[in-house]
Amino acid sequence: MSGVPSSLRFLQERNSAARLAGPGPGADELEQMLQCALRSPDHARLRPWRFISIQGDRRMAFGELLRASLLRRDPLADQAAQDRALNAPLRAPLVIAVLVSLTEHPKVPFWEQRLSAGCAAFSLTLAAEAMDYAAIWRTGAFAEDQQLVRDLGGAENEEFVGFVYVGRRDCPAKPIPDLETDDFHRVW
Ligand SMILES: Cc1cc2nc3c(=O)[nH]c(=O)nc-3n(C[C@H](O)[C@H](O)[C@H](O)COP(=O)(O)O)c2cc1C
Repeated sequence: MSGVPSSLRFLQERNSAARLAGPGPGADELEQMLQCALRSPDHARLRPWRFISIQGDRRMAFGELLRASLLRRDPLADQAAQDRALNAPLRAPLVIAVLVSLTEHPKVPFWEQRLSAGCAAFSLTLAAEAMDYAAIWRTGAFAEDQQLVRDLGGAENEEFVGFVYVGRRDCPAKPIPDLETDDFHRVW
């Protein structure tokens, strides 16, 4: 990859991290990350993205909400599953719930607004890596729980697009898959 500008190489080598440790980003760094997300592409300037950051002890309170979500979905969930839900937010020093705020618009269907908010979630992962942190975008069944949106103070018209976990990479970086552009691209 000689001759590839470092900014391109950065994008080509982006690498999520499943294991993340503290310390996480401080307030100024979080502000920088969010500023990056706010530059996501956005039809009609609806700014459909919303972010809820959860750090420190609040992660435990969030874990309680996740356990309650699990029990709503599966009242018979065993203790191990409950503990996994409870402790899920502790897998990173910073968890950012990314939501889309859906607005009826004559030119911007909901799917476009969801994509925009998804771009914002991706941008958070890129910003984290640009600041020498690492990140992973997670969803799972929790991301489909509208009661959980409400529990976090979200509105009726808001949905999760995911949870971006951010911290210091605490595992070896995965090998970057060797993908061929020809398998995904054709000239027409
Ligand atoms: C919308 C979306 C939801 C995802 N949900 C999960 C998830 O719940 N759990 C998980 O381990 N990875 C999830 N992933 C995948 C990871 O974010 C990540 O892409 C994957 O670990 C591969 O790593 P890489 O991005 O470095 O190739 C999700 C990705 C996307 C785009």
